[in-house]
Amino acid sequence: MGTTSKKKNMEIDFQDNMILLTRKYLKRKIMCPETKFRHHIKERQHVLDLLKRTVECGESNSALLIGPRGSGKTTLVNSVLKELSTIKNFKDNAMIVNLHGLVHTDDRLALKDATRQMQLENVVGDKVFGTFAENLSFLLDCLKAGDKKRSKPCIFILDEFDLFCGHQNQTLLYNLFDVAQSAQSPICVLGITCRLDVIELLEKRVKSRFSHRQIFLFPGENSAPEQALNGFEERVELFKYLLRLPDNENINRVEEQYDDCMIDSQFGTVWNQFIDDLVSNVTMINILKKMYSLDVNERCFRNFLAVAVSTLDEDHQRLEINDFIEASKMFTQDDKVLLLEGLSVLEISLIIAMKHETEIFDGEPINFETILNRYNKFANQNSSIQSVQRPVIMKAFEHIKNLELLTPVGGTNTRTEKEYQYYKFLLTPEQILDALKNYPSLPTEVKQWATNSLQ
Ligand SMILES: Nc1ncnc2c1ncn2[C@@H]1O[C@H](COP(=O)(O)OP(=O)(O)OP(=O)(O)O)[C@@H](O)[C@H]1O
Ligand SMILES: [Mg+2]
Repeated sequence: MGTTSKKKNMEIDFQDNMILLTRKYLKRKIMCPETKFRHHIKERQHVLDLLKRTVECGESNSALLIGPRGSGKTTLVNSVLKELSTIKNFKDNAMIVNLHGLVHTDDRLALKDATRQMQLENVVGDKVFGTFAENLSFLLDCLKAGDKKRSKPCIFILDEFDLFCGHQNQTLLYNLFDVAQSAQSPICVLGITCRLDVIELLEKRVKSRFSHRQIFLFPGENSAPEQALNGFEERVELFKYLLRLPDNENINRVEEQYDDCMIDSQFGTVWNQFIDDLVSNVTMINILKKMYSLDVNERCFRNFLAVAVSTLDEDHQRLEINDFIEASKMFTQDDKVLLLEGLSVLEISLIIAMKHETEIFDGEPINFETILNRYNKFANQNSSIQSVQRPVIMKAFEHIKNLELLTPVGGTNTRTEKEYQYYKFLLTPEQILDALKNYPSLPTEVKQWATNSLQ
């Protein structure tokens, strides 16, 4: 008897432990930057060739990698650098300088960090330089290998490139592009940005030194001809991939970053079967479709998965459809609904009055007087509703207007008294009812009034 319960306890402990490891493993898989890059094979090859040519043939290049947020620009560059780092010549020779617009907020900071990354702090020491250009050319000169002719190839990666355009006189960009164009020493300047109009941000003299090589990444656009999957099917595959655990089949492929969460392969097999079953469920597919139609951005999708995965614990050992429904709410919530939840009871009451007025008069514009009348009628019928002075109601009305839930019809007419100015009401009844569901301690009368216009 004792041994059976002990055995049972051990099994429970094992399951509990596995589920915590699963959560850790999946969160890391979902949130950690990927070094493997999927799709956009042509664009990736383009970047790879550029960097390779700089290092192997001593060419100088400049290029911009442009794509919306979360389209995988940084991941692409990292995967290219990872691949190149396995080539001996590249590893030994190339000097890689990573700059980021959010970190290196002015050129002085950028140059200081570039010096550090090029390991030239000792060489530069306390030297005083005349100009920025002298400083930079000194840095590049330092990279010249013994024979003076062959300079070490240098790759400058400028993430959030558009922010560098805001630096005074665009000095860094000017000098980098100048070195690249005049091919003084092998250098590749690769800017990464989400701004399509980035070229317009460049000053004339900077623009003229840029190669105008632009590489675009657009999500959902697959350049691999053999890829038969459409965007959404790919999304479902990604869903399955990201939620998979190592199982009997791929036990040897666990990467070292997961060393501290070794999952039992038997457990993994059962889990993966469960994930496969999940995507054959229509509701699950509908949630994924909804998420996909709202935002094709992969980062947003990963955040959504991470929220669902974080619900796992000893008491919740399986990912249920409901977890995904709850998680999706966080990303699909209507801003206007959230806004309503922060209003006062009086303001909410006026919103309800506006809802009724608009519904009764079939979308006709409303004004303060009509809303005041409707509200007063309701307040008079309910003794529990405190009576409120007209100026206070006016103030609440103005607040609603300032939140842009009302828009003036036919422009604001200065001759019309503000009580009679007509507005179009911009909320739908569903939005209002949605907000009321979550509104904390709303008086019952007000709640009832919202659904019953006859009161
Ligand atoms: N093609 C892809 N291959 C692998 N992972 C991708 C791909 N596209 C997007 N991702 C994933 O999406 C997330 C966002 O990607 P990344 O950070 O590279 O985007 P970004 O274009 O640099 O965005 P931002 O403009 O905000 O910097 C990362 O978790 C990344 O792993
Ligand atoms: Mg990025």
